[in-house]
Amino acid sequence: MTEVDPVQSEHRGRGVIARYERFLPVSSETPIVSLGEGDTPLIFSPRLSAAVGRGCQVHIKYEGLNPTCSFKDRGMTVAVSKALEHKMVTVICASTGNTSAAAAAYAARAGIRCVVVLPAGKIASGKLLQAFAYGAKVVAIDGNFDDALRVVRAIGERSDFAIVNSINPDRIAGQMTAAFEIIDALGDAPDFHLLPLGNAGNITAYWAGYRQYHAAGNCRRLPAMIGFQAAGAAPVYYDRVIENPKTIASAIRIGNPASWKAAKSAVHDSRGAVDIVTDEEILAAQRWLATHEGIFVEPASAAPIAGLFKCCDPARKPIYPFTQIPESSTIVCTVTGHGLKDPEVMADCMIKLPPVAPNDEEVLKAIEI
Ligand SMILES: Cc1ncc(COP(=O)(O)O)c(C=O)c1O
Repeated sequence: MTEVDPVQSEHRGRGVIARYERFLPVSSETPIVSLGEGDTPLIFSPRLSAAVGRGCQVHIKYEGLNPTCSFKDRGMTVAVSKALEHKMVTVICASTGNTSAAAAAYAARAGIRCVVVLPAGKIASGKLLQAFAYGAKVVAIDGNFDDALRVVRAIGERSDFAIVNSINPDRIAGQMTAAFEIIDALGDAPDFHLLPLGNAGNITAYWAGYRQYHAAGNCRRLPAMIGFQAAGAAPVYYDRVIENPKTIASAIRIGNPASWKAAKSAVHDSRGAVDIVTDEEILAAQRWLATHEGIFVEPASAAPIAGLFKCCDPARKPIYPFTQIPESSTIVCTVTGHGLKDPEVMADCMIKLPPVAPNDEEVLKAIEI
C-alpha cells in the first residue's frame, strides 16, 4: 500500500529517530543519540512458509542485526536521547541482559553514566560482556529480574536517575518503529505477528506501532498479535505471578511482567493469543533456524519459531491453530536477539577438534567424505 519514499531512503543507516521522527516523542530540542539502529532485514522463509502451507508466507524480522544485537536499541535511542534532553547524567536499568547492553552502548555514545542491576549468575555471557565493554557500572543482586526491577524503580524515584527499562514510555515509542518497518517492507501489516513475551514491552510496542501506522493511513489491516512464553516462565499464559520463573531462555525468564496489562489489551484487541513452548521446543527451534535458514538467534528469540511449529500441529493443542487461518495469510515472526549473545547454550554443538595433517586427503578423511 505504501510506496518507496525517497526521503525515507535518505534516512537509511541514520537510525530510527531520523526515519520515523514524526511518530516519536522528539522535537528540535532533542539531541539525537543514535548508533544507526533499525532497518533490520525482513527475511522471507520458504521453509517456514511450507510448514504453514496453503500459500501462507512467513517472514522473519531479524532484530539481532541491530547495533548491540537486539531489538532493545530501537527504544534505547529514544530513551537516552530524551534523558539527554532532560539533562540527566545517569541512566539506570534492570536487565535480563539485552537492555543492559543497549543502555550501556547508548549511554557511552551520549557521554553519560549507565548503571545496570542484574540478577546474579543469570545473565548470558555475551550480554554481560557487552555491558562491561561499553563501560557500564554493573551491580549483580541476589535475586531475579523482578527483584532487580523493583530496586531500579525505587532508585529511579531520585531525580538524578533516568530509568531506561520498558516502563519508560520512550522505550515503547522507539520499539514501535519495528512495526513501521514491517509495514513499509510488506506494503501492509501482516495478518499474524508472532514474538517472544517476557516483560511484555515489545508486544505492547508492536501493537501500538501497528495502530499508529494504521491511523495514519499507512496500512489497511492490523495483525493478530501472538506472544509465546516459556512454559516455566509464563505468567501471562497462566494469568498469575510466577514467583520462581525457570527457563533456559534467560531473556524471557520473568514472573511478573511490567507491561502485563498492556500486553493483555494488545492480545485481546488484536484477537491474538498467548501460548507456551517448552525449553526443549525452544532449543530445537533455535537449532532448526540456524541449520535450515542460516539465522542464529538466542534461545528467547526462538520461542516464536517454536510457537509457529506448535501452531501448525493440531496434536500439540495450540491456542491458535494455523490449520484454520485463511489461505495466503502473511505471518511475521520477530527474532529478537543474536545467537552469539548466549554462546553457552549452543556449546554442545562444538565438537573437540584434534588437529589433522595439512593436506587434502586428511581433511577429506576428517569430514568423512
Ligand atoms: C532477546 C529477547 N527476546 C525477548 C525479550 C522479551 O521482550 P519483552 O520483555 O519486551 O517482552 C527480551 C527482553 O529482554 C529479549 O532480550
